[in-house]
Amino acid sequence: MLLRRERPDDADAIRNVQRAAFADPERDHGRLVDDLRADGDIVPGLSLVAELDGEIAGHVVCSRATVDGRACLALGPIGVVPSHQRSGIGSALMHAVIAAADALDEPAIVLLGHPSYYPRFGFEPAADHGVTPPEDWGRDVFMVRRLSAWAGTLRGTFRYAPAFERM
Ligand SMILES: CC(C)(COP(=O)(O)OP(=O)(O)OC[C@H]1O[C@@H](n2cnc3c(N)ncnc32)[C@H](O)[C@@H]1OP(=O)(O)O)[C@@H](O)C(=O)NCCC(=O)NCCS
Repeated sequence: MLLRRERPDDADAIRNVQRAAFADPERDHGRLVDDLRADGDIVPGLSLVAELDGEIAGHVVCSRATVDGRACLALGPIGVVPSHQRSGIGSALMHAVIAAADALDEPAIVLLGHPSYYPRFGFEPAADHGVTPPEDWGRDVFMVRRLSAWAGTLRGTFRYAPAFERM
């Protein structure tokens, strides 16, 4: 497996990977990535792909988000093609994107996700650290990963980039 930043010519493969991973006819996660990119909300260096034998098999992205107007990161979507799920690709992408965000001096990564998967990467209920969702998403699924630059001052209401609202 090889992990690297996305390149301009990866856009089609990334869209296909996210669509295959989520297989959700109601919510197009491939288009969400396209929209985030078109809006300029993908954080440079934080859209990562996992290649297997030259093919993109997984992708994760962090986009610009805010907590009461202050900048933080939102993670998602993350997707691995069904034929390669549960073989460690998602975990590798998670570790890589968290380390990259930490190196960029970002304070925190926020996500909505499964409470049995993300705590292993250091995610905790966001409400425990004063970060609240804009609507009731449930305490256990709305999580924050505090990074080295976390100062405890990031408190208030979280907002995703506009592309998420258009989904
Ligand atoms: C979630 C996803 C990115 C994980 O990637 P992966 O490469 O399959 O995961 P890994 O092989 O690194 O890790 C496997 C572990 O994750 C768990 N896991 C995988 N998908 C999960 C899910 N949807 N919910 C909860 N746990 C999940 C497995 O049970 C396994 O746990 P274990 O180590 O305790 O046995 C991948 O399964 C995927 O693309 N799923 C569809 C899209 C999706 O649901 N994205 C996340 C939205 S919150």
